[in-house]
Amino acid sequence: MFQIATERMILRDWQSGDFADACLYAADPEVSRYMEWGPNSERETRDFVYGAIDSAREKPRRAYELAVELKAEKKVIGGIGLAIKDPGYSTGFLGYAFNRDYWGQGLCSEASLEMLRFGFEDLELHRVFATCDTRNDGSRRVLEKCGMRREAHFLEDSHIKGAWRDSYLYAILKREWLLRAV
Ligand SMILES: CC(C)(COP(=O)(O)OP(=O)(O)OC[C@H]1O[C@@H](n2cnc3c(N)ncnc32)[C@H](O)[C@@H]1OP(=O)(O)O)[C@@H](O)C(=O)NCCC(=O)NCCS
Repeated sequence: MFQIATERMILRDWQSGDFADACLYAADPEVSRYMEWGPNSERETRDFVYGAIDSAREKPRRAYELAVELKAEKKVIGGIGLAIKDPGYSTGFLGYAFNRDYWGQGLCSEASLEMLRFGFEDLELHRVFATCDTRNDGSRRVLEKCGMRREAHFLEDSHIKGAWRDSYLYAILKREWLLRAV
């Protein structure tokens, strides 16, 4: 099983036994407020967990869709993913969602920094990007705390939950990451 660790968390492959913990946050409308998905039914969350398990078997692996386990509680409190979509295997897309009970403790920033380290140092990516709804202050702050630059503000680029929404595109290059890490 793939896993990497931060001070407070283990970021690891999803397992079928994580389903109940995943339902806790994926069914919460506040968690999926700015997302294309959700709030999830149990079936949708099961499909997500099994989809992540399947994608981990792909070779070469293109999706690191990981469960976030809090060491102190041995509980899955969210998900974080790095997806490589370009044929040249050089660009990663970062995404995450955490259980609301654990927001505001710096956990997503800690996990995201480890995913960037993994992407640049282990996968040798050239660039990692992420998008967020312009109203999603928590996500925007996480990306800025990780040293990502805002590259674009897209106007009404997606139609989510019955309304057009604006989004920001954030990115960081490997050379910027290395400078940041000095
Ligand atoms: C985005 C999310 C993962 C952030 O998780 P988190 O663990 O609370 O993030 P952190 O604690 O690392 O917070 C980073 C910063 O954002 C701030 N922040 C967190 N949630 C916030 C909120 N709802 N509103 C305003 N600021 C917020 C924190 O105070 C912190 O800033 P600071 O260091 O200047 O104090 C979490 O809010 C979440 O799961 N949201 C729903 C899913 C989602 O929107 N995913 C992103 C899709 S693009």
